[in-house]
Amino acid sequence: MSSTAVLPAGACPLENYLTQPDHTMDARIAAAREALGKTTLILGHHYQRDEVIRFAGITGDSYKLAKAGAESAADFIVFCGVHFMAESADVLGREGQQVILPDLNAGCSMADMAEIGQVEEAWRQLVRLGLTDDAGAGMTPMTYMNSTAAIKAFCGERGGLVCTSSNAKGAFAWGFARSPKVFFLPDQHLGRNTAFRMGIPLEEMAVWDPFQILGGNTPERLRKARVILWKGHCSVHQRFLPEHVDHVRAQYPGIHVVVHPECRWEVCRKADSIGSTEQILKTIREAPTGTKFAVGTEIHLVNRAAKLAAQQGKMVITLDDSGCLCTTMFRISPKHLCWALENLLEGQVVHRIQVSVEVKRWARVALERMLEIQA
Ligand code: 13P
Ligand code: SF4
Repeated sequence: MSSTAVLPAGACPLENYLTQPDHTMDARIAAAREALGKTTLILGHHYQRDEVIRFAGITGDSYKLAKAGAESAADFIVFCGVHFMAESADVLGREGQQVILPDLNAGCSMADMAEIGQVEEAWRQLVRLGLTDDAGAGMTPMTYMNSTAAIKAFCGERGGLVCTSSNAKGAFAWGFARSPKVFFLPDQHLGRNTAFRMGIPLEEMAVWDPFQILGGNTPERLRKARVILWKGHCSVHQRFLPEHVDHVRAQYPGIHVVVHPECRWEVCRKADSIGSTEQILKTIREAPTGTKFAVGTEIHLVNRAAKLAAQQGKMVITLDDSGCLCTTMFRISPKHLCWALENLLEGQVVHRIQVSVEVKRWARVALERMLEIQA
């Protein structure tokens, strides 16, 4: 991870916060946020807990938050989300702006499934096979936002781009307009679901396993494939199964099943609609009174949506009744947020996320291409 954990002399130590109950932080967070005023923007992803997201100046999905950070004049961005989001905010941020991730352990297991060395090796093999040149003339490398800045830079340098779950379709169209093939990292499900919805049959997709020669494929298979999907997944969304869809439909006839595109293809095929976290919330908000929803995504979003929907005479339940929790999103606690803000008040930047200048250059190109494609 290209981040720095800086705790300057005089900073308030985190240990003093971790021993306190969460609720004792509320008034302190509110006061610190007030005192910091316009200098500091708190961004909150929809998977954050209630106790944290209530303090966010802007809430949203990855795309909306990346855009908000890029447009912000604040000196400090406190990112209540995960590492790749904070890295992207640092890449897109203006000169002098500093990005803070309140807990550096807030990573993403899917992003960890692709390492830059593995991606470079895969690309070398694809080049050797004659499927593309190093500049990406035959194949556009495209990475989901949920990846390291180094992988984003790799894509940017080879004519490719980043996408999020909200603009993946537009990004694939962009990729196919410049080359006959797309190499998609690291979420096989988002890649498969998006390509399939664009009319590409499964037979024209191959999965690349980074632990096998040629990703576990024959040269013929790779030659035939229009989309090569990195073998990565989200362990939270993979827990939703097609049987869950059948079960809620049997229990609540007429229920609307809406899922995140990180869910398996078999689940997405059975769903009524698919969307990013922001798009799921919009679908629920805009539905007529009386609509019932089963939602396939992280449980904090679902529980919050359920409370709001109940006030509008709608019903929201989780698709899998054991409820899927993103444990890394959960790492951001009121204590970590309070610690980051009170240190800022003392003039100390803690847990700054800083991408190196070399990586930033091409990662920015890839992220700017992403922002040009409508969500
Ligand atoms: P969104 O861009 O839809 O918010 O998704 C981010 C994410 O990590 C979902 O697991
Ligand atoms: Fe990563 Fe999955 Fe958590 Fe999203 S829900 S941040 S993809 S682990």
